[in-house]
Amino acid sequence: MERKKILITGGAGFIGSHVVRRFVNNYPSYHIFNLDALTYAGNLENLKDIETASNYSFLHGNITDEDYIHSIFQKHQFDAVIHLAAESHVDRSITDPLAFAKTNILGTMVLLNEFKSLWKDNWKDKRFYHISTDEVYGTLGESGLFTENTSYDPNSPYSASKASSDHFVRAYGETYGLPYVITNCSNNYGQHQFPEKLIPLFINNILTDTPLPVYGDGNYTRDWLYVVDHAIAIDLVFHKGKNHETYNIGGFNEWKNIDLVNVLCAQMDEKLGREKGTAEKLITCVKDRPGHDLRYAIDASKINKELGWKPSVTFEEGLSITIDWYLNNADWLRNVTSGEYQNYYASTYKFRT
Ligand code: NAD
Ligand code: DAU
Repeated sequence: MERKKILITGGAGFIGSHVVRRFVNNYPSYHIFNLDALTYAGNLENLKDIETASNYSFLHGNITDEDYIHSIFQKHQFDAVIHLAAESHVDRSITDPLAFAKTNILGTMVLLNEFKSLWKDNWKDKRFYHISTDEVYGTLGESGLFTENTSYDPNSPYSASKASSDHFVRAYGETYGLPYVITNCSNNYGQHQFPEKLIPLFINNILTDTPLPVYGDGNYTRDWLYVVDHAIAIDLVFHKGKNHETYNIGGFNEWKNIDLVNVLCAQMDEKLGREKGTAEKLITCVKDRPGHDLRYAIDASKINKELGWKPSVTFEEGLSITIDWYLNNADWLRNVTSGEYQNYYASTYKFRT
């Protein structure tokens, strides 16, 4: 039997690397092609353990480069695409929105076009899987949950670009019959997350005795999911999800930022053998993020009922595994926070203090 060829985009990033690892290890009969531009967020160190696997290849390229994308689709004839490559950080989208339109909208369209041109309407056993976010739904008030039927209402350039890409995927499905699935997931945390996002940034700051910049009053709510559980959900939807369907993925795990930061501080003090309350003293409320969404919370009952998925670890377990990983991988953290990161940190946080 010919091997199934799967293109995973953004596989050197945080979630992508967990997805690539899972597919390479669990599906020896597939060949996994990881396409990544290796932006500041892409890091091949994340995949050291599987880089020599015989069913894995790395392709260094940009999803907005039409000629390059055309050439690899012609050469490898991918049966399926799992599309994660994106600019993913809300704060960066506020300072450089165009970069988000280019990668997240145009890049997605380039991939859709090539997939369509390659298979025309010969779609048997083909699939385009687009990984998206709950931020496309905008913000919730104090109550309610996002369902698959919630209207799109994005508030940041990041979420607007992801919403737009979701619409293009759906439009290719309706117009050309392209077999797609979309998942919209809540906030992920875990090993290999770049320390621009809340949890790894605060872990790094506690380790370096740097203030913990809580935006506004810290009363913003997110629904946190351990990244390995997201990768498991992606595996399930890829294999069992229905074409032309959307599935929400969430952690059943809402936290106000300030409460989460307090739990993180307590776990860090304990693991570092520091006096209780040491990390908490670093908490500093700073100027808010413009357009800050108050609350995200996912109703994940569809994927739970139809595909049997639910998170496998509690938040306390996932957070503990995550902190241990950062403590045991000081070199990884040092490497990604040297050089350009220092400029990013200075320019992002200078105006907030
Ligand atoms: P990330 O920023 O850690 O990784 C993104 C990866 O994409 C990097 O490896 C980067 O090099 C690559 N990339 C960026 N631009 C590219 C381009 N033009 N061409 C090719 N590669 C490019 O992101 P992440 O947090 O792992 O998120 C992955 C996907 O999941 C994104 O689509 C994001 O919108 C979505 N998502 C993320 C979360 C979250 O909490 N992190 C939650 C829901 C959905
Ligand atoms: O909901 C899914 C989304 O979650 C993904 O689509 C995005 O790619 C991902 O970045 C994440 O977006 P958020 O903006 O929610 O994540 P972030 O870690 O940046 O922020 C989480 C919350 O913490 C948010 O309310 C802002 C706040 N925050 C963040 C940082 C970086 C702070 O208070 N201080 C900070 O320094």
